Amino acid sequence: MTIPIPAEDPRHVPNRAVIDPSAITENTRAMGTLLEEQTALMAVVKADGYGHGMLTAARAAIEGGATWLGVAHPASALALARAGLDAQILTWLFEPHTAKIVLPEVLGSGVDVSVGSPEMLALVSEAAREADRRARVHLKIDTGMGRNGVLPWQIRELGAAMREDDFIQVAGAWTHLTSADDPEDPATDQQVELFDSACAALAEEVGPIPLRHIANSAATLTRPDLHRDLVRVGIALYGYPPVPAEVPLRPAMTLTSRLALVKEVGEGHSIGYGRIRSTDRPTRLGLVPIGYADGLHRTGSDQVDLVVRTESGDHRAPQVGRISMDQIVIDLGPDSDARAGDQVFVFGDAGGDPNGPGAATAEDWAKAAGTISYEVLTSVSGRVTREVR
Ligand SMILES: Cc1ncc(COP(=O)(O)O)c(C=O)c1O
Repeated sequence: MTIPIPAEDPRHVPNRAVIDPSAITENTRAMGTLLEEQTALMAVVKADGYGHGMLTAARAAIEGGATWLGVAHPASALALARAGLDAQILTWLFEPHTAKIVLPEVLGSGVDVSVGSPEMLALVSEAAREADRRARVHLKIDTGMGRNGVLPWQIRELGAAMREDDFIQVAGAWTHLTSADDPEDPATDQQVELFDSACAALAEEVGPIPLRHIANSAATLTRPDLHRDLVRVGIALYGYPPVPAEVPLRPAMTLTSRLALVKEVGEGHSIGYGRIRSTDRPTRLGLVPIGYADGLHRTGSDQVDLVVRTESGDHRAPQVGRISMDQIVIDLGPDSDARAGDQVFVFGDAGGDPNGPGAATAEDWAKAAGTISYEVLTSVSGRVTREVR
């Protein structure tokens, strides 16, 4: 359990992100069943394991068969390396100021690094000299994302530079898809065509490329032809496939709080900033001490049903009115037996009665807020206690 600042003791905090590592393990195993034997699975555990805790997620994914771990930042890669996990690590996003300090350590720890520009190659080469260790480099190719990555016309120049550098070893070539969550979008095939021809040019400069990788969760689920040597799976491991999945996946995070107070109000009682909602009948309102500073998206106000666990069982209760910084209100209904202290499920797996109402999902919140489950999961703030069960 990590204790968030400023709480000194997790018992002081009503809001919990309960993480179920067995869900991550089973989701990893399920995604692994889609792969041919020669294809490895990288668990993408960047952004603190999509909000689930990086080391918790990494260990759970390795247990489920992941042999690679992927993170954006070298600092995260270093933390993974120091944990002594049984997996190869790849990190792909750095800038000169911090890279000069962190990359020698990262390379010294045996972490693979991605290079997406001639300048990044120079940084890696310099760091490898300092670490006195050959850097294992994955060349990132920009086939349409327009972010990190070398352009196809730069491949030969970069390839030659890598070939001639004794401190660089080409470990792989890779690209990232812009639109894999829309299987109808022709952009994916266009990107793959560019990638394949860039790899052919690269191979002419540096010889055989040991690892080629393209697929994220969506492409892993929908495009077996793009699995190649390695798939980089993130969101599906946390239970939120971005496309319909035929393998079983379940959410690994459950966000809970507790009622701070319950009160009876009459018809026409306004709720929250801007009075976007008033009661349409006499009812009981429940105050929940969780808000946008805990990670709820304000744009998702007044749309999602929560579940409250009272003495009589689990009951659905719509969140009403605007989400505030620290609090939300739910409409418990006129006959509710809910009391202050009762547990509230914001999203995830409420467990309990299989015929009960069932908690909302991060996807429900994402839809309400006009965003994606990735953002909902990674928005759960440091003020919320993480509890691993
Ligand atoms: C480079 C890279 N590869 C793979 C992934 C995993 O994507 P997903 O979470 O959609 O599986 C990400 C996440 O955004 C990424 O940045």
